[in-house]
Amino acid sequence: MTDAIRPLIAGNWKMNGLKAAAAEFDAMLNGAAEVAGKADLLVCPPATLIAAFSDKARGKAVGVGAQDCHPKPSGAHTGDVAAEMLVDAGATAIIVGHSERRADHGEGDALIRHKAEAAWRAGAVAIVCIGETQAQRDAGQTLDILRGQLHGSLPEGSTAANLVVAYEPVWAIGTGLTPTSQDVEQIHGFIRELLTSRFKADGAAIRLLYGGSVKPSNAAELMAVKNVNGALIGGASLKAADFLAIAKGCP
Ligand code: PGA
Repeated sequence: MTDAIRPLIAGNWKMNGLKAAAAEFDAMLNGAAEVAGKADLLVCPPATLIAAFSDKARGKAVGVGAQDCHPKPSGAHTGDVAAEMLVDAGATAIIVGHSERRADHGEGDALIRHKAEAAWRAGAVAIVCIGETQAQRDAGQTLDILRGQLHGSLPEGSTAANLVVAYEPVWAIGTGLTPTSQDVEQIHGFIRELLTSRFKADGAAIRLLYGGSVKPSNAAELMAVKNVNGALIGGASLKAADFLAIAKGCP
C-alpha cells in the first residue's frame, strides 16, 4: 500500500445479475458507510443494470461502473455500447481490456487503448486490465508481457484521476489460486516503475489494483502489499457480505 493512495475496491459482476440482483446491491449500499473509511467502492454490473443501480446509488458511497465499451461514440455497430451511453446511464468508470475480453473477443492492446480513450471522452475513469497467462508465466515471460500490455494499452495523458490499472494474472482469475504476496509485491513494484517513468508524478499516484481470486480470507494480506491500492473482484463481488468484508480488509 502506498500511503497517500486511497484504495479502490471494485466489483466486476461479469455476465451475472438480473433485475432481482438489486437486493444484493441494496445490501452493498446499506453496508457501504461502514467501510467508507477504508476504501472507495465501485460495482460494475452488466450494462442492463447500470441505470437502475446508479439511480439507487445516488448520494451513497458506492459508484457504478461498466465492464467494456466500444471505442466510437455512436454508429452502425450492432450490439455494442458506447462509453457515452454507459455514462449517460450512470457509469463513472469503465473496465477495458479484461482478460476475458482479450481472450473471448480477440481484443488487442491498440483496441483497448482506444476504449480507454473512449471512456475519457465520455467523462469516465478507465480501468485497464493487464495480466499474463499460465503459459506465459511458465515460460518466464511475465514481466515482458506486462511491459508490452502497459505500453500498448495505456493512452498518453494517463493520470491518477482518469486511469486505474488492474493487474490480474489470468491463471488466478476464477481459479482460487493467487500469487504469493512476494510475487504481487515484485510485480506491482515493476508496474509502478513503468508508470512513473512514463507518467512521472501521475504514475506514482495511479491506483494499481490486484485482481484474481480475491476473497475475504486473503484480502487483508493482499491489500497490505506495497503498491497494491485496492482490488478488482469477480466472484466474491456478487455477495454483499463478501464484497464488504474485502473492503474491510484494506489497511
Ligand atoms: P475473480 O475474477 O475474483 O472471480 O477471480 C477477477 C476478475 O476477473 O476481475
